[in-house]
Amino acid sequence: MTAHADADGVVPDEGATGAGDPEASASATPRPSRRALFGAFGAGAAGLTAGAIGGALLAGSGSGSGTASGGRSGIVPFRGEHQAGIVTPAQDRLHFAAFKMVDGAGRDELVSLLRDWTEAAEILTQGLAIGTGLEPSNALLPPDDTGEAEGLNAGHLTLTIGLGRELFTGRTEGADDPFGIRHRLPDAFEPLPSFAFDLLEAAQSGGDLCVQACADDPQVAVHAIRNLTRIGMGRARLAWSQLGFGRTASTSREQDTPRNLFGFKDGTMNIMSDEAADLDAHVWVGDDGPEWLRGGSYLVARKILMTIETWDRASLDEQERIIGRTKLVGEPLTGGGEFADPDLAALTGGEPAIDIAAHVRLAHPSQNDGIRLLRRGYNYVDGSNSLGQLGAGLFFISFQKDPAAFVRVQQSLKPDLLNEYIRHIGSGLWAVPGGVGPGEFLGQRLFD
Ligand code: HEM
Repeated sequence: MTAHADADGVVPDEGATGAGDPEASASATPRPSRRALFGAFGAGAAGLTAGAIGGALLAGSGSGSGTASGGRSGIVPFRGEHQAGIVTPAQDRLHFAAFKMVDGAGRDELVSLLRDWTEAAEILTQGLAIGTGLEPSNALLPPDDTGEAEGLNAGHLTLTIGLGRELFTGRTEGADDPFGIRHRLPDAFEPLPSFAFDLLEAAQSGGDLCVQACADDPQVAVHAIRNLTRIGMGRARLAWSQLGFGRTASTSREQDTPRNLFGFKDGTMNIMSDEAADLDAHVWVGDDGPEWLRGGSYLVARKILMTIETWDRASLDEQERIIGRTKLVGEPLTGGGEFADPDLAALTGGEPAIDIAAHVRLAHPSQNDGIRLLRRGYNYVDGSNSLGQLGAGLFFISFQKDPAAFVRVQQSLKPDLLNEYIRHIGSGLWAVPGGVGPGEFLGQRLFD
């Protein structure tokens, strides 16, 4: 059951969606908005331009006037100085999606898509449904919203949107400039090189746009991606997507350090949301970057398969040697508790106490010109294979102000002992514009 938002787009209170609420029963009253446009969409949309399809789904739903799908608790504001989903507390669930612009789509389609996604993201992150929710004004038409989040609250949903390099350069060498933004390509936005041991699959790599949907509830994250995909129809198509569970990093000190599927605490030395100087130094694009990207970042995603069955046969000593930390407490092998800095110079019996090829040594800022990455990854399991092995791994996500920072650390990891147990099978890099101001659409400054 749905409830109307008031004139400011604020639903009175969480209980307003419940049975017996006079507002809720009023929502059954036929609403004339969008009947003609949406009718055309439901009938096959043959006569509609791509932009009009998304517009039809959103028409009349202006900022926050979508219907309430389940109450107003757990809201992370979509608009702000930076996009949410980077330093906002990491939720437990992920649905990450990459999109490709359809052939023939140009600047108008890209701009209208970003406008429609901005409007939809603002609605969805408030726990509201798209358009008139489950109740179209004509029961012969499909509902505006796909419906599976009805009754659920906002679940701290964040939607973080990035732009792929090929939007600027075109797909092929010498391609024309379909979106008119070639001159806006930042110098730093170089493609990732290929790394030692990469086994990347094209079917889960790249994309013109990415949407990182994070939420407390997987259904809320999936609902968001599904509806954004639907709104994008005719302009962008879903290229690949990944579900994740169990965040593998903290971005706030209030959160406990989670564990990855090797059973180790992950995210201990991550950049936290209160480390403002380090966020400026390592994560946010500043005045030295292009104007349209300031306050933004670059998102690297790496789908890393973990051969957990082999790992599970390694002794505890071996596992701890590989990582360079203890498994239970997560402290460096040189002691001092979980949050102590590893003592990379310490010796035990004449040998380095932390192996020269241990993961935390090679990834440590002191081995990488002081570089720190903001990691925000998730565990994943994509079923199992015929050998009885889980398709398990880490959907690694990091944010950095320059993709070269990720490249530097990943190249340092070439001798990593961990490499025997992992394979990078997917990859992507996107520029994540800064936060969306009042009345703006995401990425607007790119087109000014
Ligand atoms: C499946 C693959 C991986 C696993 C299981 C893994 C696991 C871990 C663990 C257990 C830690 C120690 C706790 C912590 O500080 O978070 C750690 C630290 C770290 N990892 Fe990874 N990691 C993986 C891949 C990567 C990749 C691909 C990168 C970047 C290219 C990376 C960069 C880092 C960094 C920067 C640190 C913190 C080092 C420090 O400041 O002390 N990791 N990782």
